[in-house]
Amino acid sequence: MGRTDTLDVESFKQNLEQEWRQAAPGWRTWYDTMETEPGSRGLSRTLIDRAGIGAGDAVLDVGAGYGEPGLGAAEAVAPDGRVVLQDLSAEMLAFAADRLEHADLADVDVAILQRDAEDLDLPDFSFDAVISRAAIMYFVDVAGTLARLRTGLKPGGRLAASVWAAPDEVGFASPLPIILHELRLPPPPQDRPGPFALGDRERLAEVVADAGFVDLRTGSQTAVWEFDSREACTRFLRDVAPPVTALVAGQPDELAQRVWQRVTDEAWEPFTGPDGRVRLPNLAHWISAETPR
Ligand SMILES: C[S@@+](CC[C@H](N)C(=O)[O-])C[C@H]1O[C@@H](n2cnc3c(N)ncnc32)[C@H](O)[C@@H]1O
Repeated sequence: MGRTDTLDVESFKQNLEQEWRQAAPGWRTWYDTMETEPGSRGLSRTLIDRAGIGAGDAVLDVGAGYGEPGLGAAEAVAPDGRVVLQDLSAEMLAFAADRLEHADLADVDVAILQRDAEDLDLPDFSFDAVISRAAIMYFVDVAGTLARLRTGLKPGGRLAASVWAAPDEVGFASPLPIILHELRLPPPPQDRPGPFALGDRERLAEVVADAGFVDLRTGSQTAVWEFDSREACTRFLRDVAPPVTALVAGQPDELAQRVWQRVTDEAWEPFTGPDGRVRLPNLAHWISAETPR
């Protein structure tokens, strides 16, 4: 894809792991806010449906984080199915392991695998489906990684993945212009891995086709997260969005405080109701595809 040309991949990966390590406690805090049916849980359902997951299937969730959509898939593969929850971050997976311990999944084999998806070497034809929510856009080589994952799928095996749309369609990205302006930073390069790297649906379809998948279908879906107040929404962003938080971290206290105050006062304003609650709509694109039979 040419994205490695100017990217120091080793330090990018170290940063990524560190950012998700730091964010993991926040994902525990805000789990209930994100995982509602109008919110991210609805995206998990779409992916499980699009991947046609059913009883007895073997499923790999790539970049599973705290276990989404993999733990939902685990319910769908019962009895006798198998799910692997894979992620780069041990700390994100630790919450997945806690959720698994309290889930009623006695007749499903659920494994947790801490590994960079770009280094995965799957046994050929070992999975019926690969699913992934909000993770593949962090890959340095998306098409190459998906092509390797494809060899681990059976003929006719399914891929279903979602990514965030372009920042101007994603509510949680609305503080970005304020943050960049206050910190006098240029916009981040468009071609770098990150939360919005596959925000263009055509580009998403292109990389999945480049990876050798066929029968591509795409769609879009909004996940709405609801907060008690604008202050809560800012706390949420600081807790769960490491790439955004990292921009402000390390700035003098006074400047950092001014940034977060402006975010609270201005960024969430369009999403605040008369009751003071914030309903943040976040557009995601999904894609589903198959391996050639
Ligand atoms: C936005 S979170 C999404 C987590 C989960 N899928 C969800 O939707 O709640 C992105 C996740 O992708 C993981 N990730 C990023 N790059 C990865 C890679 N190369 N291999 C495996 N996991 C990766 C991060 O560690 C993080 O847990």
